Amino acid sequence: MTTILHIDSSVRAIDNDNPAHNSLSKNIAKTFLDSWRESNQIDEYIYRDVGVNPPHFISQDWIGAVFTPSDKRSAAQHQQLQLSDTLIDELTRADIILMSTPMYNYGMPAQLKAWFDQIIRINKTFDFDLARGDQPLRPLLSGKTLVLITSCGEFGFNKGEVNEAHSHLTPHIQTLSKYLGVQVMFEIASEYQEFNDKRHQDSVAKAHHDAAKLAKTLSTQRQEIQHASAV
Ligand SMILES: Cc1cc2nc3c(=O)[nH]c(=O)nc-3n(C[C@H](O)[C@H](O)[C@H](O)COP(=O)(O)O)c2cc1C
Repeated sequence: MTTILHIDSSVRAIDNDNPAHNSLSKNIAKTFLDSWRESNQIDEYIYRDVGVNPPHFISQDWIGAVFTPSDKRSAAQHQQLQLSDTLIDELTRADIILMSTPMYNYGMPAQLKAWFDQIIRINKTFDFDLARGDQPLRPLLSGKTLVLITSCGEFGFNKGEVNEAHSHLTPHIQTLSKYLGVQVMFEIASEYQEFNDKRHQDSVAKAHHDAAKLAKTLSTQRQEIQHASAV
């Protein structure tokens, strides 16, 4: 049984009248998915395009509802948390999280941050206990794999590279991923979009190649785990 939760977050569509406007990150995520489907089934597929349909931002009332014990919440507070409950349920069911994101202003899109803010929630995805000293937060979910597809206009955001100091996309998501229950994370990055040169073409081609290959590897691993638990 494999559940894939697929979150896209570019504001650009996957397919436009002018193909130059197509979202790179969404298309690379699609390559991953197509490749997975070629070699293994997906028992449950959950899709959200938060770039086009963003979750609403959290509010003071939202925080009030979160910190009210579940059996003491008013109808309005339950209503306030409905989307968060649904998004957390989708996350909880997932074995694989396929997340695609552009770099906007050196970090993630506000729309994707809104999704994280709805999901990283006390007593749902983490708990808090001062008895743990200086590390009071503990994730409650575990065992998930995150495949992160990123796309940026510049380049060189990895360790030791020219733009390392401006790299607030992958490191931020990596930090948050433990509250999604992520234990294994892969990143596939497409770079140089703003240069629109051969480096960009090569980078996009490599990202598609790597996405297809990773999907084959992970789907084969899932198949082996499923066979092993069936015998
Ligand atoms: C509002 C906005 C902000 C951006 N900021 C950055 C940035 O800080 N660094 C960067 O390398 N590219 C930046 N870019 C370029 C995008 O990351 C790049 O176009 C990427 O391919 C977009 O993802 P998509 O093709 O999936 O839509 C920005 C693009 C937009 C629209």
